[in-house]
Amino acid sequence: MQGKLIVFEGVEGSGKSTQLVRLQQWLATQPSFQKLQSAGIVPDLVSTREPGGTNLGKSLRALLLDHQPETALGARAELLLYAADRAQHIEEVIVPMLQAGSWVLCDRFIDSTVAYQGYGRGLSLSLIEQLNDIATEGISGDLTIWLKLDADQGLSRSRRRGTLDRMEQANLEFHQQVQQGFETLAERNPDRIVAIDAAAPEDTVAQQIQIIMEQKLKAWYRKHLPTS
Ligand code: TMP
Repeated sequence: MQGKLIVFEGVEGSGKSTQLVRLQQWLATQPSFQKLQSAGIVPDLVSTREPGGTNLGKSLRALLLDHQPETALGARAELLLYAADRAQHIEEVIVPMLQAGSWVLCDRFIDSTVAYQGYGRGLSLSLIEQLNDIATEGISGDLTIWLKLDADQGLSRSRRRGTLDRMEQANLEFHQQVQQGFETLAERNPDRIVAIDAAAPEDTVAQQIQIIMEQKLKAWYRKHLPTS
């Protein structure tokens, strides 16, 4: 695939969505990125998210995150709904964009399933890996920006923002296990996952991400961007 899939991951309140928007805006102002776009090498730059990146995904997101006390949702059913969301998202959005050479900025992807359903809920990691493979057709992302933040700090930020969704309402221990999951994933996949200190001020986090992107742009498009 010629395009690039850039994923943002992290615990609740780690600032993924804010930083994703900031990166998209910053890229649009970068001469090197503009050059790739005007030459048709990178036709498009889109942002999306999981769950909820397709019409089906929006319905699944509501089932997964809206608090419906009358509707029980067990851990395995939860895992399969996230996998269904991903399978549709890959087929409908991500693969066509990557095939066209475009960039996809995605708020959460496979690592969230490992961290939340694997480390958080305690479901089998090898089962999750198999499901992720089925849903993604083997696509794992070109770069994952992990916004590293303590679970309790992130949850306090989420609480300040307003009502908590079904996942956010899980106890602190669950969220600490999720954080442990991201730690382990980052240790095991140093080529793909870059950790950024998300406790730093928003502007500092954005600048760190921009530095990484500048390096990646040069490495990925060496042929098209002259070194100066
Ligand atoms: P967010 O988009 O606001 O981060 O909310 C998505 C929630 O869904 C968040 O609590 C993480 C959770 N989630 C999983 O548990 N497993 C997954 O595979 C994904 C993509 C998200």
